Amino acid sequence: MKKIIAANWKNNGSKDFVKKYFSYLNENLEKNSYNEIIIFPPDIYCSLALELRNKIPARLGCQNISINTKNSTLTGGTTFKMFEDNFYEYVLIGHSENRANEENISLSLKVKLCETMKIIFCVGENKFDRDNNLVSSKIFSQLDDLIEVYNDSMDIVVAYEPIWAIGTGVTPSAKDISSTHEIIKKYLAQKLPSNKEKDIMVMYGGSVSFDNAKEILTSQFVDGVLIGGASLDVEEFTRICNMQI
Ligand code: PGA
Repeated sequence: MKKIIAANWKNNGSKDFVKKYFSYLNENLEKNSYNEIIIFPPDIYCSLALELRNKIPARLGCQNISINTKNSTLTGGTTFKMFEDNFYEYVLIGHSENRANEENISLSLKVKLCETMKIIFCVGENKFDRDNNLVSSKIFSQLDDLIEVYNDSMDIVVAYEPIWAIGTGVTPSAKDISSTHEIIKKYLAQKLPSNKEKDIMVMYGGSVSFDNAKEILTSQFVDGVLIGGASLDVEEFTRICNMQI
């Protein structure tokens, strides 16, 4: 079954890294892989990645966008229009590492702005929520930002990323991941009735590696993985991409 396998490089890389990464992918990625492969490079390597991606069946996405709705000047940042201009297809919205720095930025506004891109909308609880049985309520309130502005022409995938699992080497059990994904699908199908539960895609992120990828990807209700640290090792990432699920 088709799965989404995404590499979130975060703020890692160099020109040399990008060149070697794509050259390795070009030689080793299954050309007729059925999986959807997405790379999220840092903004500054966006055009280089675009140029090198040519022969590879991988898509490109941006890790965040800068918001400038007033059409005034803003020093720094890359706007949605700039990514679109560079043929970027995916955008991550609501990654916990950005939520922490952008308390005042409305995620609903970001979703609206990026409406013509494929959005990967990140949700997930922290350790306190987990320990206090607040997982579903936290995730539902995060999904409400999406639901508020959703329209049927939008192409949205949800990424469930428990904050306590990001970069820690610890993950929920495959059974827990599966049941949380089911809850997310049910909630969205109930709030957005034009979406059938079976058509809503939910991927998992947080300490995914080659060692646990197969178990996670073959769990019920899991449609893909968003990989941070392990995606920096192109050999490991390629082995995950080439898995037959
Ligand atoms: P990780 O990061 O795989 O290093 O835990 C995942 C993410 O933050 O998207």
